[in-house]
Amino acid sequence: MAEFRVTPWEVEGEVDYEKLLLQFGADPIPEGIIEELPKPVLLPLKRGYFYAHRDFDKFVEDWKEEKKISVVTGRGPSGPMHLGHILPFYAARWFQEKMGAFVLIPISDDEKYLVRKERKVSEVERFARENLVDILAVGFDPERTRIVIDFEDTYLYKPAVIVAKRVTFSTMKAVFGLTNESNVGWVFYPAVQMVHLFLPQLLLGPHRVLVPVAVDQDPYIRVARDVAEKVGLVKTAGLLSKFMPSLESPFGKMSTSGGVEQKVIWLTDDKETVRRKIMKYAFSGGAPTVEEHRKYGGKPEIDVSFLYLLYFFEEDDRKIREIEESYRSGEMLTGELKAYAAEKIASFLEEHQMRRSKVLDAGPEEKLSEYRLNEEEKRAVLEWGKDL
Ligand code: TRP
Repeated sequence: MAEFRVTPWEVEGEVDYEKLLLQFGADPIPEGIIEELPKPVLLPLKRGYFYAHRDFDKFVEDWKEEKKISVVTGRGPSGPMHLGHILPFYAARWFQEKMGAFVLIPISDDEKYLVRKERKVSEVERFARENLVDILAVGFDPERTRIVIDFEDTYLYKPAVIVAKRVTFSTMKAVFGLTNESNVGWVFYPAVQMVHLFLPQLLLGPHRVLVPVAVDQDPYIRVARDVAEKVGLVKTAGLLSKFMPSLESPFGKMSTSGGVEQKVIWLTDDKETVRRKIMKYAFSGGAPTVEEHRKYGGKPEIDVSFLYLLYFFEEDDRKIREIEESYRSGEMLTGELKAYAAEKIASFLEEHQMRRSKVLDAGPEEKLSEYRLNEEEKRAVLEWGKDL
């Protein structure tokens, strides 16, 4: 496999997920833990899209003991959202509905401003607003969910400074791949994201917080874990996923840089568009001709349409096994597999889009206000760390 490089801001080449775990030092999901979770188990977790963790077992333990638990997952508003961007939020909703987790959703407009040279402030602010409509459409419980927006929420600054004091420049350089050319905002921003990870504890007192994210965000969890105990908090837990496969490659990341049309399914794509993109671009594990496919069969493990079904869209365990076997044997053709996957994805998107238009009708700002911190909560954040 070709060389690859993964930092929180860049993913290059074809990712070897097992090697990455060794590099990062996270653990594979422990045997037997899935069976302990409420049913139906979150599909990407059951099917191995989330494939590694830090202290997820302790999080589950705390849940079983009916202790307070939280989940944090955020969005860097770098542009419109695609399918891969929204799925972590549906995962967070599952943790809320099934396990009663408090959910914190940070919007890092500051991050996306800092790391992209050409970005204007007005652009990240506009993307933040647009992205929030999709995040609100996921349907979090306003009683147990808070949304923070870095540029707007100045109460985040004080805890960020308290955290920043405990992280050295050499750690930042090593963990985040910074160089002498990185602007200094880029050096400081990780302290802000660490505050995101700690925030449920600042609001509700020390307790276990789980961060379900793509594996490229693990460096934040790593550094946060080192700092947590120094500031009287519980070590952050992480649940790490693979990348949403790009349409073009089972090893690439669904990303918006370069040749976008061939890689991405947008949240706004309609049924026809989804169908056309899958048919035309989705990388196929099928043989080049129907005759060869019938004879030698296909390779589901590298077929992007199959992987989408496996990880996200085919809930039925028996059905997914049938598809896998019939595709591998050559009985099911690429065209059939693609049509089925496109149908499933389009209907997920249709439902998401329906909820999205409800948010728009109700007024996104009004809806958003249900999730913002109230005065008392802001005070709690500002009161934190007096002795540190
Ligand atoms: N850095 C994340 C990204 O680029 C966004 C983000 C900000 C985040 N704060 C977070 C993700 C906290 C998980 C948890 O997408």
